Amino acid sequence: MTLIGKIAEFFSALFGIAATQADNSAVSTSSEQAEPSADPPIPMDSMIEAYWREYVQGKHEARETVKALDEDKICAGITKRVNDGTFRLIEIPANILRAMELIRSENFNYCNLEEHLQNSPAMATEIIRIANTTAFRRKKSAATLRDAMARLGKRTLLSVLYFGTTRSFVAGKKHLEPITESIVDHSYAVATISRYMAARYGFDPEEAFLAGLLHDIGKIAIVSDVADNADIPYMHKYASEYFYEDILNPLHEYIGGIIVAGWDVKPEIALAISSHHQIQVIADDKITEQHRLAALINFCDIVARVLGKGRWIDEQNLLSLRSAALIGIADTNDNIAYINDILLLFDDTRDMLDPAT
Ligand SMILES: [Fe+2]
Ligand SMILES: [Fe+2]
Repeated sequence: MTLIGKIAEFFSALFGIAATQADNSAVSTSSEQAEPSADPPIPMDSMIEAYWREYVQGKHEARETVKALDEDKICAGITKRVNDGTFRLIEIPANILRAMELIRSENFNYCNLEEHLQNSPAMATEIIRIANTTAFRRKKSAATLRDAMARLGKRTLLSVLYFGTTRSFVAGKKHLEPITESIVDHSYAVATISRYMAARYGFDPEEAFLAGLLHDIGKIAIVSDVADNADIPYMHKYASEYFYEDILNPLHEYIGGIIVAGWDVKPEIALAISSHHQIQVIADDKITEQHRLAALINFCDIVARVLGKGRWIDEQNLLSLRSAALIGIADTNDNIAYINDILLLFDDTRDMLDPAT
């Protein structure tokens, strides 16, 4: 699909705009400016239909497979292990802690960090990969670890190091690789969107990026615990996130909060991890300024899922979400155009559209 098609589809999915209205929108104007195309326009109705049909199929699959587990019993087991201290929390390995120390030291330089990370090839590869994603990419790709580290900067590097612990935590459990990768991909999408939104709505972009990366970290610890303690039928060993959703949904914020309580992250980030879905139901008089970051993560989590980067989600009107109000996103054409440009964060042709970057 052309960029025009993708933007029109994204806009329709986000704001529920009827096909006839889209012709007059700010987005259709910006998409015309972005890429004049020789392709004939695709009728809006058929694009929307194709988009949603794809995700409804995923939802049906989830309802069928989840019956293979006794979720209540598994949730009770997890809660018991948390309470008696036998639940295995994600801890930061010594080599990553040392890398974090180097970054935070007064005498920091990229040479020392590069030398240290030579002993962690998986982490080095991940840093180069992130530096070359659309959100961080420049015209010239970052080919070496040194280039990649310099491009990300110290604070983003710290965030990538924190999040890198998730993969090492499940290392050796091959059947958890697919679900881990999908959670990691979703988390990077939420982090990328959060960083972008932070710049406009009064957040620290690096804090938003870290909160986005870590917001679902509890899920990794839970699926690992379930693999160790529950009897998963062989045919479901490589199951996706949908298979575990009645365990993950009620517990992953709680477990995520416990994990990062042992890490050196700011209280607002810990609160975003432990309440990014709760933000929809917390009583008005309990909402504080500290909850704004949780609202941002809630909003960006929903945007990522609407974009297909995460679990299936029904059609949303983003501007009517409580999290949008808490962030301060008013229903204006400027805000709609800004949100619509989120799509460009994931567009492989972006540096061709913007040669200055
Ligand atoms: Fe979540
Ligand atoms: Fe999420």
